[in-house]
Amino acid sequence: MPTTLAFDVYGTLIDTHGVIAALERHLGPSAGDFSRAWRDKQLEYSFRRGLMQQYETFTVCTGQALEHTCALFGLSLSPADRQQLLDAYRTLPAFSDASEGLIQAREMGFRLFAFSNGPRDAVEALLTQAGLRHHFIDVVSVDEVRSFKPDPAVYAHFLRRAAVRGAEAWLISGNAFDVLGALSAGLRAAWVRRTPAALFDPWGTTPTLTVEGLTDLADRIAEAVVPPKPGRKRA
Ligand code: LAC
Repeated sequence: MPTTLAFDVYGTLIDTHGVIAALERHLGPSAGDFSRAWRDKQLEYSFRRGLMQQYETFTVCTGQALEHTCALFGLSLSPADRQQLLDAYRTLPAFSDASEGLIQAREMGFRLFAFSNGPRDAVEALLTQAGLRHHFIDVVSVDEVRSFKPDPAVYAHFLRRAAVRGAEAWLISGNAFDVLGALSAGLRAAWVRRTPAALFDPWGTTPTLTVEGLTDLADRIAEAVVPPKPGRKRA
């Protein structure tokens, strides 16, 4: 069976900081800081809900994190403005290398899935409006097991849904915590490190491979799956 690739969505295919333009109207030059604080709080809420086994969807985590971040920045939003920001989150853009990287991966014959914390409907709509949905065999959501990455149960769920063993599946993610979660659950994992400022957690484990963008990915995975013959240099 061809190798299976599970693409993380927010922060890997889709740029969560695409919301900065919508935030600038309210926050001016602090929009970037606000966006990062919002994203960090959204993930923190998902981690805490997973640990506490008090599941609410990632969409709820996103809305509650927005409320918290508004309080932190002293920003008071009208219900219409709040809704506009949450709508902007549903129409976030793809990273510029996503489409080309996915085309290359399909051409190599890999089996492509989207695998996200987001609920299935939200992820389907997000990938469709970003022009990426048609690359994937299916969308697998953690919502189906009511927990969040990096709970080992959600990676096991992915393997069941994709009908594949961990040794034959790769997680592709820009989120270091997701890469560590997948490795710990027995998958291989590629970390998409788009900027040198992105740091990997010093936990004594390294990604199976690290790429600078999605257009480097397919070749590198093919090489890792079937190593080149000795003496042959990588192009
Ligand atoms: C996702 C998170 C990690 O898309 O943002 O699963």
